[in-house]
Amino acid sequence: MSDNTLIVDGLTVSFAGTSVVRDLSFTLAPGRCVALVGESGSGKSVSARSLVGLAGARADVAARQLSFGGHDLLDQSERQWRAVRGKQIGFVLQDALVSLDPLRPVGKEILEVLQTHRYGDRQQRAARVLELLERVGVPDVALRARQRPGQLSGGLRQRALIASALALDPALVIADEPTTALDATVQAQILEVFQQIKARGAALLIISHDLAVVAQLADEVVVLRHGEVVEQGPMQQVLRQPQHAYTQALLAAVPAEHPRGTRLSPQRAGQARPIAVRAHGDVLLEGRGLGKRYAGPDGRVREVLHGVDFSLRAGRTLGIVGESGSGKTTLARIALGLLAPDDG
Ligand SMILES: Nc1ncnc2c1ncn2[C@@H]1O[C@H](COP(=O)(O)OP(=O)(O)OP(=O)(O)O)[C@@H](O)[C@H]1O
Ligand SMILES: [Mg+2]
Repeated sequence: MSDNTLIVDGLTVSFAGTSVVRDLSFTLAPGRCVALVGESGSGKSVSARSLVGLAGARADVAARQLSFGGHDLLDQSERQWRAVRGKQIGFVLQDALVSLDPLRPVGKEILEVLQTHRYGDRQQRAARVLELLERVGVPDVALRARQRPGQLSGGLRQRALIASALALDPALVIADEPTTALDATVQAQILEVFQQIKARGAALLIISHDLAVVAQLADEVVVLRHGEVVEQGPMQQVLRQPQHAYTQALLAAVPAEHPRGTRLSPQRAGQARPIAVRAHGDVLLEGRGLGKRYAGPDGRVREVLHGVDFSLRAGRTLGIVGESGSGKTTLARIALGLLAPDDG
C-alpha cells in the first residue's frame, strides 16, 4: 500500500535552533500532485530540499515520519541518498540554474544522470538525451545538447534541468518553480509533460507562485506561511473557497483572468516614491541598431539580435517582452555593458 507513496508527517526544519518549517504533513500517492504555495520565505524550498536530503549540512531535519515507498528518508547517509536521488526521486530545485556546471554541455549533464544509474548502453543513452530534450520542448536538440549553460537562454537551461530530472522516469518528481522562467507556450508544453508523468503513475510535488500552474496540476494544495501550514485540502476547495484569511489574501492578490506570472503574495499597499534625478522625459539610455551574433558548436553563426532600437526616458518604464530565447537578456546585458554588441 505504501508503495511509491511519499509520507511526510510532522516535518520540522531548523537552522541554528530557529525553525523555518514546522509540523508539515501530507501524503502523496502515485499519480497525484500536491502543490506547496505561500509567499516568499514561507518555507517551500526548504521543505522540498529536505525531501531529497539537500537541506544543507547545518539544517536540522526532524519528522515523525518521512518515507517514500516504505523506505525511511530520515537519517540516510549521503551514499544512500545518491541511490535515491535522480533514480527514484527526480527534482528541479529553485535556483538550480546557477548550479549547472558552466563548462559542461547540457547534454553531458543529462548523460551523467543516465551513466551514474547505469541506464542502457552508450547509444541508448545518447538517444535518450535527445529524446528528453525534445520532450521538454527544446528546439534543435542536437545543437543545444552540445552547448554550455552560458550559451543557452534562461528558458532553455530551465528545460534542460527538467529533462535531467525526468531522465530515469522517477516515481516521484519534485519541482520548485519549474516554469517561472518560461514563456506561455513553453510553459504549456512543460505542464503537458507533467500531466503525462502523472498519468503514467508518477507522483508530483510542485511549488509555484503561479496559480494557473497549481490549478492545472494539483490535486491537493498546502498553503504555508512563516513555515506553518495555514490551510490544506483539495485543490478546488482551497482555490475556490479558501477558509483562511491568509489564503484569501493570497488569492485576492491575483488579478482575475490573468493569474499567470503573478507572484503569490499578499499585496502591501505602498507607493514607491520616485527619486528625482533628472527631469521627466530626458533620455537616459538609448540603443540604436543593436545586433549580436553567436557562433554555435557546429560553426554556424546565429543572429540573436538584429537592428534593435530603444530609448528609455527618466521616470518611464520600458518593458522588454518576447518568447524564450528571443534575446531579452542579451539586450539587457548589452545595455549594462556586460556584453559588447556586434552592431549598433
Ligand atoms: N541554509 C539556510 N540557513 C538559514 N536559513 C535558511 C536557510 N535556507 C533557508 N533559510 C530560511 O528559511 C526560510 C524559508 O525559506 P525558503 O527558501 O524555504 O522560502 P520559500 O517559501 O521557498 O520562498 P520563495 O518563494 O522566495 O522561494 C527563510 O526565512 C530563509 O531565509
Ligand atoms: Mg523557494
